[in-house]
Amino acid sequence: MSEPQLPAVEVEGLRREFKTKGPPVVALDGVSMKVRQGEVFGVLGPNGAGKTTTIRILSTLLLPTGGWARVMGFDVAKEPEKVRKVINMASGAEKAGYDFISAKRNLWFFSQLYGIPGDVADRRIGELSERLGLTKYLDRKFYALSTGYRQRATIARAFVNDPKVVFLDEPTIGLDVMTARSIRDFLIEEARKNGRTIILASHNMAEVEAICDRVAIVDKGKILTEGSPEDLKRSLGAPALVMEVSPPQAGFEMLAKVPGVKGFTSSIEEERGLSTVQAVVDSDAAARAAEDAVRKAGLKVVASWRKQATLEEVFVALVGRGFKEREEQDVV
Ligand SMILES: Nc1ncnc2c1ncn2[C@@H]1O[C@H](COP(=O)(O)OP(=O)(O)OP(=O)(O)O)[C@@H](O)[C@H]1O
Ligand SMILES: [Mg+2]
Repeated sequence: MSEPQLPAVEVEGLRREFKTKGPPVVALDGVSMKVRQGEVFGVLGPNGAGKTTTIRILSTLLLPTGGWARVMGFDVAKEPEKVRKVINMASGAEKAGYDFISAKRNLWFFSQLYGIPGDVADRRIGELSERLGLTKYLDRKFYALSTGYRQRATIARAFVNDPKVVFLDEPTIGLDVMTARSIRDFLIEEARKNGRTIILASHNMAEVEAICDRVAIVDKGKILTEGSPEDLKRSLGAPALVMEVSPPQAGFEMLAKVPGVKGFTSSIEEERGLSTVQAVVDSDAAARAAEDAVRKAGLKVVASWRKQATLEEVFVALVGRGFKEREEQDVV
């Protein structure tokens, strides 16, 4: 029997509080998780859920105020220099690089910070650029790259030191569909072929669904649930109900009282003169009861259909509301 493999990331009871003028902000409130080597693991949650805080602690940029975390067996608080040798990270919000040197010099500079021998660095930069479609733009100054190419360079940088574990915070935010897709393909390949572990913080459900082997759904500093996207969706039981309702309106509180309705989201579509409501239901009977409740409130159900669950519905079932509504609700 072979030894059980060392987890790439292990987190137990992780807490992080921030002091503020008012009461302290609890960004992480007891997070525990274990990520296997070679896994693409998603941390999915709405704004303020604690994703960036998690990534910053795991990549040794921030200390936890409670609990512990290990990366490839090294404690992030007690052995940060050992952790740093085996990881790298990139954030889609930063697009970090030195503006007045070329993309290639940027990558070279970072490779030399890691002490990578020149010929190895050259080869790696060439290979990463090729796979990320960056080769043509390598000699361009960083500032002169478009957002998408700057982001490709930032992703290349995150792999230049041959890291075991890569932390990515919203790596495709603000990118067009094609660029986002090629970055995702690259990430999947890095995990599958090169056995790298990738921890991806994102509030993009489609992205997480597309590339993650497992996902932790987080909200308000806590993990609500964890599993493969397929298992999480399957756990919902019945397809979601979609209704187009007229006249358009925002409040569908009557749905909260319908037995078997686990949660709902709604949005107003001005041009079409209606509201779209999506309800997570545990049975077909609950879906019928939800439609009845809307009608009883004096509204017209113009059309309704059922839809296969996505991770959005998983979140709705757990929280009662969607990502967007959760984010709006927290604005004070
Ligand atoms: N330096 C800080 N000082 C005070 N509060 C902070 C600080 N950093 C983060 N927070 C708070 O901690 C909570 C979690 O923030 P975090 O950035 O981890 O969320 P997130 O999930 O990455 O959100 P987003 O999707 O907006 O990036 C938020 O309430 C945030 O306001
Ligand atoms: Mg964030």
